[in-house]
Amino acid sequence: MSEQRLTWDATARNREPILAVLRDVLPPSGTVLEIASGTGQHAVHFAPALAPRVWQPSEPDASLRASIAAWIEAEPSPWLRQPIALDVRESPWPVERAPCEPPISAIVNINMIHIAPWEACVSLMAAAGRLLPAGGVLFLYGPYKVDGQWRTANDPAFDESLKQRNPSWGLRELTDVTDEALANGFILVRTVDMPAGNLSVVFRKD
Ligand SMILES: C[S@@+](CC[C@H](N)C(=O)[O-])C[C@H]1O[C@@H](n2cnc3c(N)ncnc32)[C@H](O)[C@@H]1O
Repeated sequence: MSEQRLTWDATARNREPILAVLRDVLPPSGTVLEIASGTGQHAVHFAPALAPRVWQPSEPDASLRASIAAWIEAEPSPWLRQPIALDVRESPWPVERAPCEPPISAIVNINMIHIAPWEACVSLMAAAGRLLPAGGVLFLYGPYKVDGQWRTANDPAFDESLKQRNPSWGLRELTDVTDEALANGFILVRTVDMPAGNLSVVFRKD
């Protein structure tokens, strides 16, 4: 099983700085639904560190779900659930048909909205607005343009490489993301400067 475990360098590098912010901003209990869990490295690292919250990974890609399951087998935690198949563009989300226990108090989405069409961000915000109770937290992490400006010297080339892979991908403008969140009942709580020019963006359901 362990040969199915994938390891991404960036995910290993950013997990501690992200965990420090999550400790600070997540509600103290409930299920944290992770969208686009990727390899599962974040899930196995965050779940025991953030107990008694329950960590629910999700991922649309079956081979990545196999990696998440393999990481969970290697590093089990009573606070960590098996991954579910979830593409943000589906509606309703599977967790709306079969609600999590304890109920979802936060949604975490790391490094996805620039590697997906804009519609993925729109769908994420709409579902988060339906799912989260008042006081629930939506946490995003990734690279952004802010007020039309790149934040690092590498960003233009990175944006171009994303667009070459898929013209609908690319770094998102922070105000576009924030406007979408506000339209779905969220308040922007804070942004946090992260290593390598990334941002943590924290919203709370009004
Ligand atoms: C760069 S990876 C980041 C994975 C992980 N969050 C991390 O930081 O290591 C982008 C992830 O977004 C996921 N993804 C892309 N489109 C998606 C969609 N429509 N719904 C949910 N996840 C999506 C991919 O399957 C992949 O796991």
